[in-house]
Amino acid sequence: MLKRLGFLLLLLLFVFIVSGCGSKPAQPVDPPGQEEPVLAEAELLINSRCSQCHGVNQVYRMKRKDAWPGIVDRMMSKSSGLLDDQEYELVVEFLQENYGN
Ligand code: HEC
Repeated sequence: MLKRLGFLLLLLLFVFIVSGCGSKPAQPVDPPGQEEPVLAEAELLINSRCSQCHGVNQVYRMKRKDAWPGIVDRMMSKSSGLLDDQEYELVVEFLQENYGN
C-alpha cells in the first residue's frame, strides 16, 4: 500500500516537473533592452540624412574609428543643420562602435 502511494507521488512529481518545463518556452524572452532603440535611431538618422548627397555605402565603407568625428564634422559643414548636437553624438558613437577598428 505504501509502495503504491510512493509511486503515485513520484508520478505526480514527474508530471509536475514535465508540465513546468513545458510551459517555459511559451514565456516571451525579454530583449536585452536599452541598446537597441539607440542603434535603430542612429541608423535611421544615417539612412535619412547621410544619404542626401551620396549613398549609405559611402558611409559604411569607412572603417576608421578615430576619423569619424572629423568626417561627420566635415559633412555637417557641407550642409548646415544636418544633425543637432544630440544627433551628432549618437551618429558618431554608433559609427565608432560599429564601423571602426
Ligand atoms: C551635403 C552633402 C553631404 C551630406 C549631407 C553628407 N555627405 Fe558625406 N560626403 C559628401 C561629399 C561631397 C563627400 C566627398 C568629399 C569629402 O570627402 O569631403 C563625402 C564623403 C563622405 C565620406 C568619405 C570620406 C573619406 O574621407 O573618404 C564619408 C565616410 C561620409 N561622407 C559620411 C557621411 C555621413 C556619416 C553623413 C551624415 C552625417 C554624410 N556623409 C552626409 C557630401 C555629403
